[in-house]
Amino acid sequence: MDEGRRWRWWQRGVIYHIYPRSFADSNRDGIGDLEGIRQKLDYLVWLGVDAIWLSPIFPSPMADFGYDISDYCDVDPIFGTLADLDRLIADTHARGLKVILDFVPNHTSDQHPWFQEARSARDHPRRDWYIWADPAPDGGSPNNWRSVFGGSAWEFDPATGQYYLHTFLKEQPDLNWRNPEVRAAMFDVLRFWFERGVDGFRIDALRFLIKDASFRDNPPNPDYSPDQLPFNELIPAYSADQYELHEILAAMRHVTDAFGERVLIGEMYIPISRLVAYYGCRHERELHFPFNFQLLLIPWTARQVAATIDTYEGLLGPDDWPNWVLSNHDQPRVATRVGEAQARVAAMLLLTLRGTPTVYYGDELGLADVPIPPERRQDPLERTIGPGAGRDPCRTPMPWDASPYAGFSTVEPWLPLNPDYETRNVAAQREDPRSMLRLYRELLLLRRAEPALAIGQYRPLGVTTDVLAYERTAGGRRLAIVLNFSGHEQGFRPSREPLDGYVLLSTHLDRDGEPVRGTLLLRPNEGCVVALSGLPGR
Ligand code: NOJ
Ligand code: CA
Repeated sequence: MDEGRRWRWWQRGVIYHIYPRSFADSNRDGIGDLEGIRQKLDYLVWLGVDAIWLSPIFPSPMADFGYDISDYCDVDPIFGTLADLDRLIADTHARGLKVILDFVPNHTSDQHPWFQEARSARDHPRRDWYIWADPAPDGGSPNNWRSVFGGSAWEFDPATGQYYLHTFLKEQPDLNWRNPEVRAAMFDVLRFWFERGVDGFRIDALRFLIKDASFRDNPPNPDYSPDQLPFNELIPAYSADQYELHEILAAMRHVTDAFGERVLIGEMYIPISRLVAYYGCRHERELHFPFNFQLLLIPWTARQVAATIDTYEGLLGPDDWPNWVLSNHDQPRVATRVGEAQARVAAMLLLTLRGTPTVYYGDELGLADVPIPPERRQDPLERTIGPGAGRDPCRTPMPWDASPYAGFSTVEPWLPLNPDYETRNVAAQREDPRSMLRLYRELLLLRRAEPALAIGQYRPLGVTTDVLAYERTAGGRRLAIVLNFSGHEQGFRPSREPLDGYVLLSTHLDRDGEPVRGTLLLRPNEGCVVALSGLPGR
């Protein structure tokens, strides 16, 4: 490939996703904050990541823990002040790391002054900043659209006799992106933060940003099964992934490009074949990358993962940069989905594939979802969808050490700690040369040292029921990654040529430098990076 190409920080680098309420509490109120994050920057440097992405830290009534914003250009007092954020940005930059914030353009809080004005009267100039519709002839909702968080997507406003649209909670009314004033105001929000030195945005709920202009009913989903969210009973054919979104993203990209090397990452739960459209075309770029959530969603088998990687690689254009995600603040953690032993293999996969990896805080400790007793559940989905639907288990406080409250705080945290925090914490795993934390660090160091991993080409080497193998190459350097998805020993030999070289890194952290002659033997749940001798074989 293009060896002389200039690679951008968001291509070479690894993003570390912080859920700010749960990272570190500096002022002893049990809730993480910006100063807490700042105090942990040296840890992130030691770990070897390149950028932090913070879930929303803006003023918010916290109906959806910050994804309901009442002022886009300030910091919520729970997290600190604008000055704290400036200090965090400066100190992060001083360590050579980048800062990505969350941009939530689909909806505001119902407490945002814009919505307060919009709902005050039908003829208020701000009315059209949100999406209003008259009741159906029977007085019911204007159409059948569902909220992702349960129930109808429409809420009746008795004072003005119309319904407003909310794709998420009723406390999160959707902005009307057909209105040019909304676009201008939201683009100004981006400029505000870019001018303050923010390096990019993760854009929330992007597939929903613009909806069918005539509010046609969504069709029933023939593939729905009751284990899915009620939202999935309908296909969001008219309320998501609409054609006009491309034009908006191209405009957003122009705003962004005016500030130099910044990044736009979109949160989009759509099939890969649709996802790749949001890179834009060669002449009109859109996102730097839409998040690829496939590893969160597919069954964890070697064949499924292989099919996903190759389908994605095959769909990407020459200018489209891939990315991979294993966990986030909305989904069960990887250690819970695949088990602790396989989570090490998953880490090697994430950090050796082609494309920007995002590491979710705590995954580097093998943190699993934490069971939350009913009286301590916080997520509104417990109420709107039902008990057990909440996302609290994957949002628990980061365990830093074995002290009371795990060094996260000196008071009871907003969510319970992992019950094993006295042994599963940063301090303990830093000392243990075979820990998950040390594996993450070794993988991150290797990725930084090896251009083949950071920006090299990808080629499949083979897949069996239990083993997945691929090759990454750059400048004549060839690395094979061989992953055992099973709890049994496996041997692997590519069909085209033998594996000859030596082990650079094993997920067990105990066989560096071991020669490999033809076949690689893997222990249960083991993955290896093998440095191959000789020139690339084609
Ligand atoms: C996606 C976010 O990741 C999630 O946490 C949030 O609840 C919804 N969007 C609504 O903003
Ligand atoms: Ca705090």
